[in-house]
Amino acid sequence: MYFGCDYYPEHWPEERWEKDARMMKEAGFNVVRMAEFAWAKLEPKEGQFDFNWLDKAIEILAQYNIKTVLGTPTATPPAWLATKHPVILRVNKWGIRTSFGGRRAYCPNSRIYRTYSEKIVSKMAEHYKDNENVIGWQIDNEFGGDREKGLCYCEQCAAQFRQWLKGKYETLDKLNQEWGTVFWSQTYTEWEQIPLPRGLETAHNPSLLLDYRRFISDSYISYQKLQIDILRRICPHKFITHNFMGLFNAIDYYKLAEPLDFVAWDNYPNLRFTGENKSSVKVSLSHDVMRGLKEKNFWVMEEQSGPSGWQCVDPSPHPGEIRLWTYQAIAHGAEGILYFRWRTSRFGTEQFWHGILDPSGTSRRRYEEIKKIGQELKRLGDKLMGLEFPREVAMLTSYDEQWAFEIQPNNPKFNYQEHFASYYQLLHAWNVPVDVISIQGDLSKYKLLIAPALFLINNELVHNLKEFVKKGGILIVTFRSGIKNWNNVVFDQPLPAKLNDLLGIEVVEYNSLSSMQKGKLELIYPEIEPLKGECDTWCDIIKCREAEIVGRYTESYYKNEACITINRFGQGSAIYIGTNPSPEIKKCLLRWAIEKSGVKPSFQADPEDIEVVLRRKEGKDYLFFLNHSEKSHQVKLDQSCVELLERREYSKDSIMAIEPKGVRIIYRI
Ligand code: GLA
Ligand code: ZN
Repeated sequence: MYFGCDYYPEHWPEERWEKDARMMKEAGFNVVRMAEFAWAKLEPKEGQFDFNWLDKAIEILAQYNIKTVLGTPTATPPAWLATKHPVILRVNKWGIRTSFGGRRAYCPNSRIYRTYSEKIVSKMAEHYKDNENVIGWQIDNEFGGDREKGLCYCEQCAAQFRQWLKGKYETLDKLNQEWGTVFWSQTYTEWEQIPLPRGLETAHNPSLLLDYRRFISDSYISYQKLQIDILRRICPHKFITHNFMGLFNAIDYYKLAEPLDFVAWDNYPNLRFTGENKSSVKVSLSHDVMRGLKEKNFWVMEEQSGPSGWQCVDPSPHPGEIRLWTYQAIAHGAEGILYFRWRTSRFGTEQFWHGILDPSGTSRRRYEEIKKIGQELKRLGDKLMGLEFPREVAMLTSYDEQWAFEIQPNNPKFNYQEHFASYYQLLHAWNVPVDVISIQGDLSKYKLLIAPALFLINNELVHNLKEFVKKGGILIVTFRSGIKNWNNVVFDQPLPAKLNDLLGIEVVEYNSLSSMQKGKLELIYPEIEPLKGECDTWCDIIKCREAEIVGRYTESYYKNEACITINRFGQGSAIYIGTNPSPEIKKCLLRWAIEKSGVKPSFQADPEDIEVVLRRKEGKDYLFFLNHSEKSHQVKLDQSCVELLERREYSKDSIMAIEPKGVRIIYRI
């Protein structure tokens, strides 16, 4: 397993590097990532390259058996470049060009920027191609990761956007028709008339907005490809990855991941002031999303190792928490873990974004904790590599759907990601392993599929879903599905369009609820315990064609009308949930679907705040127990097993205690 940190030797005097390497070695590190922001150090003046310092750092680390992953430094163009060619800088939606001084300020479509990027990447590749201590590349850093989500509205983007549209629609007539530009007199007679969706007092055409999001996403993907092509040509034996950002969704991560050897991502579970304070469930979901990008294990290129913060300091990770996050990552598929960052910077924007060491560079609590993890991982050797997931349940998503909902949330309370997470969370609570995969993924491996809010529908998706159910799968689809075609235009058929026969229903009317409003419903299907409850956000009023009623409203003008249905289709069944039921009702529905599909939870009956993750290898079941709480817990083991961290055996029915923030890994014997 690769285990290490993100290292910035250029921030510290050279005399210190040796000590750093020694301390890293003592912590069990075998890898660092370096140089991803070091363009100005590597090319201090245009065309003058200096790799000396980096060579030296790589060499010192290598003496301690620490390998290097090099970042291409394109996330931070140097001042000389931005001054000479201000057109490389992005323009925001109000037409203002960003200034030099932060990071990620470049336009991915800038020809000039691409040329300079090619130069620095080729130089680095040539310089390190035969260096065996450099094992791989990270391209750029966190594409899209800035306040504007990487969007650019400059003239170059406008010209490229029109080219992109020509490639997609071929003729203006087609574009006009697909976008419905007859509305508000927007018919285009020249390609040059098509605007970027810059700031407006009203709102742009939703089809234009969606295509613009796709275009910007494609721009980063093609910018990444430019670098990949160079690296593959010059360094065919080194791996290439990029550091993704979990649930971040400004770029089509499936496409971005495609040409990479594996996905890496940056995991900051606790950003109380600077961002979201993620629940442990959200962290697991993020890991599962990352694993689903290539349906393959991944790395964590930046794992939180201290309190974060730019302007304010976030709370510190509690004792045991860094270790818990590390094993949580491994449980969900990480095969490389690098902590961000080795030593907290004394200067620059991220002075408060703490690393393993504080600015004084002394070993303290966090270093000691990581060292302990290093010892454990060394002992475990390759045991935790190549673990597989059971692949019984999958949740489907796509970035097109996410963008369409960002453009039009449909209801102010509706948030696609929260909606998605509300289903994931229940599966997670029952220790049902979930894959999160693309709507274009191979569905045939699964028994149960959950496809929340398939707002946009295309024929391929409909076909795949039908095949899945026909062959015996259980599918759950939720409200606001089958509303629009792939160009963000509403269907002229009864809803959920194209899914009517699969779901056996017609949505005859809907009611979008205010944030204070609740609906009332009851479950009345023979296979489920009768239950009354509430729902919010949205109420579809459903006429069953072939489907049977599972739930109906008990109030309002649609009292007694169906809101939840099930339809037999081929060998399987398709369930439609036409509202957002309360957690109790959702629980009941999911439990029923799980039983119906024959899916088994990884582990029965454990305390709620213990996460249990099942992995498999060579016919053996591995179970990770992660205690996210501040309390110690006990679990009763259902089989005799070996515990890998404490190194002891447990007999069947014995009790395993797990301390607060503790971790256990067992395999059953
Ligand atoms: C991101 C970046 C890092 C660093 C941290 C902290 O994950 O990739 O370079 O900036 O955030 O801000
Ligand atoms: Zn631009």
